[in-house]
Amino acid sequence: MGNSFSYYFPYFENELYCEKISLKKIAEEIGTPFYVYSKNAILNKINQYKKAFQSYPTLICYAVKSNSNLSILEIFRENGLGIDIVSGGELYRGLKAGFDPKKIVYAGVGKTDRELADAVKADILSFNVESLMELDVIDQIAGSLGKKANISIRINPDVDPKTHPYISTGLRESKFGIDMEDAIKAYEIAIKKKNLNVVGIHCHIGSQIMDVSPYREAVEKTVELVFRLKKIGIELKHIDIGGGLGIKYRPDDRPPEPEDLAQAVIPLVKEIGLKLLVEPGRSLIGEAGALISQVIFLKDKGKKHFIIIDSGMNDLLRPAVYNAYHHILPVIKSGKKVVADIVGPICETGDFFAVDREIDDLQRGDYLAVMSAGAYGFSMSSNYNTRPRAAEVLVDGNEYFVIRERESYDYIIEPEIKALQKTSGEVK
Ligand code: LLP
Repeated sequence: MGNSFSYYFPYFENELYCEKISLKKIAEEIGTPFYVYSKNAILNKINQYKKAFQSYPTLICYAVKSNSNLSILEIFRENGLGIDIVSGGELYRGLKAGFDPKKIVYAGVGKTDRELADAVKADILSFNVESLMELDVIDQIAGSLGKKANISIRINPDVDPKTHPYISTGLRESKFGIDMEDAIKAYEIAIKKKNLNVVGIHCHIGSQIMDVSPYREAVEKTVELVFRLKKIGIELKHIDIGGGLGIKYRPDDRPPEPEDLAQAVIPLVKEIGLKLLVEPGRSLIGEAGALISQVIFLKDKGKKHFIIIDSGMNDLLRPAVYNAYHHILPVIKSGKKVVADIVGPICETGDFFAVDREIDDLQRGDYLAVMSAGAYGFSMSSNYNTRPRAAEVLVDGNEYFVIRERESYDYIIEPEIKALQKTSGEVK
């Protein structure tokens, strides 16, 4: 298969496949746009993570926010992973997908009372607590339910992950976690709470991290804190180092492998002997997915050549929000190149996939693949411009399965129809 952007998206005779299925065939059968995920690419990443951490007691908790489709969650559950969640909705999905609550960790700076109560009732492995006020509220809610809640403090190690500012979370000025100086005090408060079990420590420094040295720095600081806690009699069970490992977006990107992460952190964590938790999202699913779209129109304006496609920023928000680069491949190679802006149909200048990109000379009706879109693609999509969200497809060898149908117009307006029926009693 080699010599292409992605091993799991090979070209056979100039036609792009996902594993052993032609993407053109899927597009003709189900229409565009759709997200396609390679099951074997996901399994391969899971195995890389498992192998990398096998020498040390580790729980891998998949970050649900990166792609929360139930069929995708099922793959992670079947392979023994836990999940990292950030909302009541993700808890609901996780439990529906059959995850053991003892493998669920819950982070986020703004958990509501209802979300907290649901997670306390479910008896999750750990709340990753981000403020003193949250500690108080969890204690009260657990007390009122006659339960004890397991908590870790999310510390902010003040480390620069050298990534996009919107996805850096471990710097002092960010809203996340509790500063190192205040962490001991937070633990002292936590252990006095009647309805809390203090079980761990958590940090997450950012996302799309392309070098493991910031992890080393963050884990060193965290381990040092664990030693200080031990000295004052506070014993923990686990250390959770968050997610964030980068993936390949550009053809020459060389992201660190799970093995590099493991080698950087295991020797440090070994010193304190606590169980290790990691929370990867993007690195498990990102490269396994692509967004397949069709060219609607071509347009030349001044010096610019525009390729207008049937996906928009509502389907993939990353270029608009982070100015993110996604590699784009023609589904059928023509060999002839042009320089073009590849844009969506939405009424916003930010609705672009690529600017001044050299690409095959695509024509009306041709298909293209926006690569590395498995993470934060569908999960950040919306109905902006009343566009139905894309279908999702899982490929396994030479078979494919629609794991989420394309939304219909009726589905989108249904809650409003219900409201109309209530107010006026009739709908056309
Ligand atoms: N753990 C916590 C506490 C997190 O906040 C995140 C991601 C993860 C784990 C997983 O990080 P990952 O391994 O996926 O990098 N929408 C952005 C990414 C936002 C990441 C937010 N937190 C993007 O499209 O790049």
